[in-house]
Amino acid sequence: MIIKSIKLTNFRNHSSYLLECEDETSLILGKNGCGKTSVLEAIYILTRGKSFRATDSEIIKRGTDYYRIELKYQNGDSIITTYDGKTKTFLSVDKKSARLPKKYRYPVILFLPSDLNLISHSPGRRRDYFDTFFSGLDETYAVNLSKYKKALRQRNEILKNEQITPSALFSWNLLLARLGTAIHNSRNDFIREVNSRLPATYHSIAKNDDEVQIVYQSEAKNLTEDKYLSHLEQNFQKDAYLGHTTFGIHRDEYLFEFNHKPANGSASRGETRSIILALKFIEAKLIEETLNQKPLILLDDVFSELDDSRRTCLVENFKHHQVIITSVERFDNNHS
Ligand SMILES: Nc1ncnc2c1ncn2[C@@H]1O[C@H](COP(=O)(O)OP(=O)(O)OP(=O)(O)O)[C@@H](O)[C@H]1O
Ligand SMILES: [Mg+2]
Repeated sequence: MIIKSIKLTNFRNHSSYLLECEDETSLILGKNGCGKTSVLEAIYILTRGKSFRATDSEIIKRGTDYYRIELKYQNGDSIITTYDGKTKTFLSVDKKSARLPKKYRYPVILFLPSDLNLISHSPGRRRDYFDTFFSGLDETYAVNLSKYKKALRQRNEILKNEQITPSALFSWNLLLARLGTAIHNSRNDFIREVNSRLPATYHSIAKNDDEVQIVYQSEAKNLTEDKYLSHLEQNFQKDAYLGHTTFGIHRDEYLFEFNHKPANGSASRGETRSIILALKFIEAKLIEETLNQKPLILLDDVFSELDDSRRTCLVENFKHHQVIITSVERFDNNHS
């Protein structure tokens, strides 16, 4: 699917804004705060269903009481969403719904400046990063994860109760053990796949023989569902005392290794950027192979963070995709 245009009304600082897209690369240039990331955010809402950075109420232009986005595709299709402070509606030719219809969900590779700090971010940010990555590839993963998070919140709520007994947690333990093992197995498989592609992809960017890999660490490693359940049960006293669940895949960690040492602290800034670039390339490739669709590429202000050779790599790698780039600076035309 090729996006032809996007029109925003009362969306963040935009009262009315229209972007007509190019088939290949579109560039949104402008000063800090002029609303560039907001345009990508709007596109993301109409391709993935929700914003990558805020709730709908935060998005409505201050002083107004609704927002509206309209996305037109080159094949004549179009989709509109409106939010009036209470209700979000998606309108397409054939229906009106509260969620983005499946037919309009489209894979997106979003590249934010903060992604470049992925290696030094908190474990939680890294988990979120890979959860978005894997959810884009596998619907079941996304569903399991969302159910897991809901069950975990409910279990933690119960744990805050002072007169709690182990039996109050039984059904939640069963659910967390089932979902937790499934999520763990998926993460394991996905990371194995990413690792199998990292050396060649990294090499194509950095042009040297440095070795990169991701080490997936999980308390659920090698555990059957029954063993996972026993761990939850054994931790009852501790969990009740602390008021939250201390065992499970919500504590998983992804460590980046650079030449067999932790990348955070050993890889240089440029090397770190090459690792992230490689990760984005792998994500795009996996989406293409798994879903048989070419993801839309949204690059938010990342060019200014990259040197010439990495910019060239980025452009070359995504030259057969539709790419929408934001930037505060005008860069060399060879790259646009
Ligand atoms: N609900 C809102 N109503 C009005 N303005 C808003 C709202 N939310 C954010 N803004 C403002 O909208 C502007 C655009 O934000 P956005 O992040 O899109 O800018 P940007 O062009 O990407 O900036 P930068 O180059 O700094 O990344 C900012 O000035 C922000 O403060
Ligand atoms: Mg921005």
